[in-house]
Amino acid sequence: MAESITITDNRTGETVELPIVNGGVAATEWSKVLPGVWFYDPGFMSTAACESAVTYLDGDAGILRYRGYPIEQLAEQSTYLEVAYLLLHGELPSEPEFVAWRQEITMHTFIHENVRKRFLDGFHYDAHPMGMLVSAVAALSTFYLDAKQIFDPTSRAKQITRLIAKMPTLAAAAHRFSVGMPFVYPDNSLDFPANFLSMMWKVAEPHFEPDPVLTRALDILFILHADHEQNCSTTAMRVVGSSHADPYSACAAACAALYGPRHGGANEAVIRMLTEIGDIENVPAFIEGVKAGNGRLQGFGHRVYKSYDPRAKIIKRTADEVFEVTGKNPLLDIALRLEEIALSDEYFVSRKLYPNVDFYSGLIYQAMGFPLDMFPVLFAIPRTAGWLAHWQEMLDQDSKIARPRQLYIGPETRDYVPITAR
Ligand code: CMC
Repeated sequence: MAESITITDNRTGETVELPIVNGGVAATEWSKVLPGVWFYDPGFMSTAACESAVTYLDGDAGILRYRGYPIEQLAEQSTYLEVAYLLLHGELPSEPEFVAWRQEITMHTFIHENVRKRFLDGFHYDAHPMGMLVSAVAALSTFYLDAKQIFDPTSRAKQITRLIAKMPTLAAAAHRFSVGMPFVYPDNSLDFPANFLSMMWKVAEPHFEPDPVLTRALDILFILHADHEQNCSTTAMRVVGSSHADPYSACAAACAALYGPRHGGANEAVIRMLTEIGDIENVPAFIEGVKAGNGRLQGFGHRVYKSYDPRAKIIKRTADEVFEVTGKNPLLDIALRLEEIALSDEYFVSRKLYPNVDFYSGLIYQAMGFPLDMFPVLFAIPRTAGWLAHWQEMLDQDSKIARPRQLYIGPETRDYVPITAR
């Protein structure tokens, strides 16, 4: 039997049967019973804004799948570039498809000289790299005027390739600028994560070969961050994209959404919190402070996950491998103690607050030598694939422009008073 609910309008006695499709009820159907009455849902707590076939997430069971593939299997066996292809095309690539895709990406890693020399060099010396990235991504739209042809498949594919390929170059350029180091051009003999590390760390050596354990760890982090269904930044991408803006402008909006500490800035906040705690002895008092309302336990809690974030489990394992190479991050013991206490404390248990992806990722990034303000930038590089997969899906669904309604709570009409009479 098809699932449905029946609603009675007590004002008129009229009833209507509403089908439940894919776990949801169409708001347009509800509206037939409630003309002129809006659904009030700030923060989209109960609203599905679209249908999507990209990522499946079950927050109670701690399940995350890209296009049906469990995140654990992808993190174990795949690469970020393959995952990006999967997100965008819906299927894993065949070998020739992957070789062609990798070649395409590799051939688009360079950025226009003016982006670096005139645009990025114009920032204030202490500019935050994420602020630089947001602006640089938006500026790309002025370099690729064909990007406006969003319904031309060739142009769309070209912009997708450019964005995925150029993100690491822009990210590394922002970092080099912020530490006063010369820009490093992409090395197309290296694979995607190794090339990024080369652009970050190369000094005077003719060829930079990053440690394979660190390169693989970074690739795993890229896989884990590649998509997460309708999160804040993906929603920003879809909302801006729904106006048919070019993908660089929409992607810049997504980057801006990712900048905030409730989203992509959380792993930076975790490190600041662990540094402030300073010593394992201070953990119980810190937890008591959080419970008393003095700030949040950063890297804990999630709008969707009400159990252990599956990405956090994988990251915890990856951290051990990284620390074998870099030496243990001294903040790790504080993090482990925090987790142990929080997971057995009534406050956190009753609110279903578990470590999220950001609780351990910052420790890895820090051990690998990334400065704190690069953390959201490191998140933006792989999430670009997810943003673009959702953007493309939205355009193919011929979706309407995002334009919610409001419940007006301001003053009634009143007459203008000249300034001299106020
Ligand atoms: N520490 C202490 N208490 C918390 C925390 C936390 N990290 N997170 C939620 N709570 C409490 C909150 O005070 C509230 O308690 P009460 O019911 O007594 O008022 C209850 O749990 C529900 O919190 P909420 O703010 O209504 O939940 P939300 O779904 O709106 O917020 C969140 C989700 C991720 C913004 C929030 O958990 C948070 O601020 N966490 C810390 C920041 C963080 O780690 N963000 C990264 C998210 S994962 C990466 C990503 O996807 O971007």
